[in-house]
Amino acid sequence: MTSNKIAIFGAGYVGLTTAVLLANSNNKVTLIETNPSRLKVLRAGKSFFYEQGIDELLGQALRNKSLVLTDDSIPILGSQDIIFSCVGTPSNADGSCNLAYVFSVAKTIAEHAKPETVFVQKSTVPVGTGGKTDIIFKSFGNNLHYVSNPEFLREGTAVQDSLWFDRVVVGGDNKRANQKVLDLYRSIESNRNRLAAISGLSEVPDIVSKYILTNRNSAELIKVTANAFLALKISFANSIAKLADHSGADVNEVMDAVGADSRIGRAFLDAGRGYGGGCFPKDVSGLISSAEEYGVDMPIMAAATSVNDSMPGYIANKAQEAMGTLTGKRVAVLGLSFKAGTSDARKSPGVKLANILHSSGAIVTTYDPHANGEAKEELKRSIAVCKSTADAVKGVDAVFITTSWPEFLGIDLKELAGKMSGSLFYDAVNCFNPSDVEQSGLQYLGVGRS
Ligand code: UDX
Repeated sequence: MTSNKIAIFGAGYVGLTTAVLLANSNNKVTLIETNPSRLKVLRAGKSFFYEQGIDELLGQALRNKSLVLTDDSIPILGSQDIIFSCVGTPSNADGSCNLAYVFSVAKTIAEHAKPETVFVQKSTVPVGTGGKTDIIFKSFGNNLHYVSNPEFLREGTAVQDSLWFDRVVVGGDNKRANQKVLDLYRSIESNRNRLAAISGLSEVPDIVSKYILTNRNSAELIKVTANAFLALKISFANSIAKLADHSGADVNEVMDAVGADSRIGRAFLDAGRGYGGGCFPKDVSGLISSAEEYGVDMPIMAAATSVNDSMPGYIANKAQEAMGTLTGKRVAVLGLSFKAGTSDARKSPGVKLANILHSSGAIVTTYDPHANGEAKEELKRSIAVCKSTADAVKGVDAVFITTSWPEFLGIDLKELAGKMSGSLFYDAVNCFNPSDVEQSGLQYLGVGRS
């Protein structure tokens, strides 16, 4: 496989994961990051987020000199074969996608890259962004080839998802450019075992990776459609959970049976405190506003958002009913990242729940094995962030489990009951067996498990 010179803008989850995998697959990669503190951490061979295998891949690529880190793209842009854009696309106040970084990178590349360079858009962008970027390229008189190549990795399993990918989607107008991008992924696939060994991943999923070529606008729409559909599944499960609570059904039993229908599938039907993170909330609101721009109404996605927004409050209300009042009650929220396996606390349902409980008059303690630092600034100031589960649960009336970290799932329930003053155990991720909890002398509440 030929070695390519590749530049990557943005060392976020997507950019860094892509960079370390390509640099360890016989390519020369320059990763451009303008945030000085992030760059300093990376130069020391550490990623700034918690992700299995990433530090090992980063260390190896830096030692090999197949990865170079810089904050200055200008000197290197003219000598690259392929340039990736993996910069952030935060939400604007109205929910639309902010493309300022995307277009600023496109302008820099239009000005400094050599003609015929392949430009790969990996940032999550609304459909139609490729067309607007092409106008920028043309305004600089540069003949660059735009390829949309959406990313599907999940935080917490970013390396694993990027090694054993379900599909690679590539969409662009230039055949040779499309082929070049597809070949990069084939190089990762053919180096899979070696990359897995470097990163220390042992689990080998049984996956046949698909390579899908589409038109540019389809590729752009595929990414947000996939995320929006997954978000829709979760909100659907949460709507059924509310009905299960009122009707004596158990939503886990319902979804196990419904998901056994191969037309539906069981994935992303876990009811609980709702979805969070840097993708689903942003991609759903981005899809709604991008559809609006084309004059298309998407009430189905507005409904998914409204169900999701209601979940932490729904859980707090049920706790209030169970305890009579929340005022003056001592409660512990275990889990501040938006899901297990990551230190990311953006739009975290656990943080939201802790803040709601606090606003309802409860005295709140919290703990997360990896996200205490990131969650702190999102939490109300008088909420105590503890150093351990034991510290957080001491003397509390109720415990809320809001992420499925192994440390929480393996909790000794009898010991926990002994440390608490009250007895409410709120399983907001529906991961515990209610009878195990009740046998330990605790009162079990789940979401849709009446
Ligand atoms: C998501 C997509 O899965 C990934 O393909 C895309 O590239 C980025 O967005 P991520 O945000 O990392 O990945 O997390 P994911 O594992 O999808 O979970 C998102 C949220 O949904 C989490 O808060 C999770 O706890 C929640 N969730 C997930 C549920 O509440 N129920 C489920 O059944 C599944």
